[in-house]
Order: sequence, then C-alpha cells, then structure tokens
Amino acid sequence: MLIETSRLIIKPISIEDKNAVFEYRSDTKTNKYQGWIPKTIDDVITFINKTAKKNNLPETWFQLVIQEKETQKIIGDIGIHFFGKENKQVEIGCTLHKKFQHKGYATESLKRVIEYLFNELDKHRIITSIDPENISSIELVKRIGFRKEAHFVESLYINGKWVDDVIFALLKKDYFNTNKPS
Ligand SMILES: CC(C)(COP(=O)(O)OP(=O)(O)OC[C@H]1O[C@@H](n2cnc3c(N)ncnc32)[C@H](O)[C@@H]1OP(=O)(O)O)[C@@H](O)C(=O)NCCC(=O)NCCS
Repeated sequence: MLIETSRLIIKPISIEDKNAVFEYRSDTKTNKYQGWIPKTIDDVITFINKTAKKNNLPETWFQLVIQEKETQKIIGDIGIHFFGKENKQVEIGCTLHKKFQHKGYATESLKRVIEYLFNELDKHRIITSIDPENISSIELVKRIGFRKEAHFVESLYINGKWVDDVIFALLKKDYFNTNKPS
C-alpha cells in the first residue's frame, strides 16, 4: 500500500522509521493529548513490532507514516483501527511533527487515506476520538467533514488524569457529498 499526494507519500511504517518517529512522537508538549508518548527508541521499536503487518485485518491497528516528498523526511503518522464484526468501520488518528504543522499536510494526507478507505476498502463509517481541548485536531476533522456525535465525560485515563473524549464520525455517503476527490 502506497498513497501519493502532490506533496506527500503515505506508506506502512517500517523499522527504519524508528528514529524519525521517536523525534516527533516523544515531544510531550505537542502530544499532550496522546495516550502514547515514547520515552526511548525501544518504545518505538515495540510499537512498530506490535502494529499489524497487514492492512484491513479486523480488530487491529495498522500504522502509516507520512513522508514529505521534498525532503524525504518522515514527518508524521496516521493510525487506522479496523473494528466491528462486519469490518466496515475504522477509527483513525493523525500526528504531525511540530515543525511540519500548519502547512495543510494533515488535511492532505488524511483526505487521501479516507478516500482509500471508502473507495478501495469500501468502509461505511470512520470515527475519531479527540480530547475536547485538542482544538487543532477538532478543526482538522471538521474541515474534512466529520460530525460531532458524542461527548463522554472523564471517560479516558490519559497521562495520569481522567479526560473527556469527543467522538467525531464520517459516513461514506456524506464524505462524497461535501468533498471533491483530492
Ligand atoms: C492534529 C494535527 C495533525 C493537525 O495539524 P495541522 O497542522 O493543524 O493541520 P494541517 O496539516 O491540515 O494544516 C492546517 C493549517 O495549515 C494551513 N495551511 C498552510 N498551507 C496550506 C496548504 N497549502 N493547504 C492547506 N492548508 C494550509 C491552514 O490554513 C491551517 O492553518 P491553521 O493551523 O492556522 O488553522 C496536529 O495538531 C498534531 O499533530 N497534533 C498532535 C497530535 C494529536 O494530538 N493528534 C490527535 C490525535 S487524533
């Protein structure tokens, strides 16, 4: 699986990406809303080894990395959780290196991955779980057309405290009504 946009390449994570992934994922400030913050490169190796080796397997997480074409640098990642007994729904999450935010890269890569999930894998619904204080992420998913569906109060224990969890979702039929294929 390899997805290309005008500025980016999106591909499955591999062990060669460990240093690049550590560089941005270990940034505790940028990733304060994330449940997983590696402390060592070994944490990243364990994470990569745990990732499903094949795409689209029910009840697994598949991890993609985002590479900037111009510099060839790995600048972020997109996780996809395949869930539900019909294998028609996924949960996604996106993380960018701080230096590569505010350039439209998350929108550009997520839209293409979403189109892949709806068109190639025929998924019915995509959800994402976001801390209500994570404004950049909320803006990102709203820009793509996700709708807020739920707000759970203190339902997740992350980085030593109970936090709220907001669920946004997008149906295949709604995505293509509001977005032109990228
Ligand atoms: C969530 C996250 C990926 C969003 O990143 P982002 O940089 O805000 O989103 P995009 O890459 O789509 O960039 C959009 C911004 O780029 C600007 N932009 C600049 N050039 C652009 C271009 N050519 N095309 C589109 N937008 C462009 C947009 O105007 C927008 O500006 P703003 O940030 O001032 O609103 C990022 O905040 C992040 O990694 N956070 C930490 C991890 C995290 O909490 N993830 C959530 C878990 S689900």
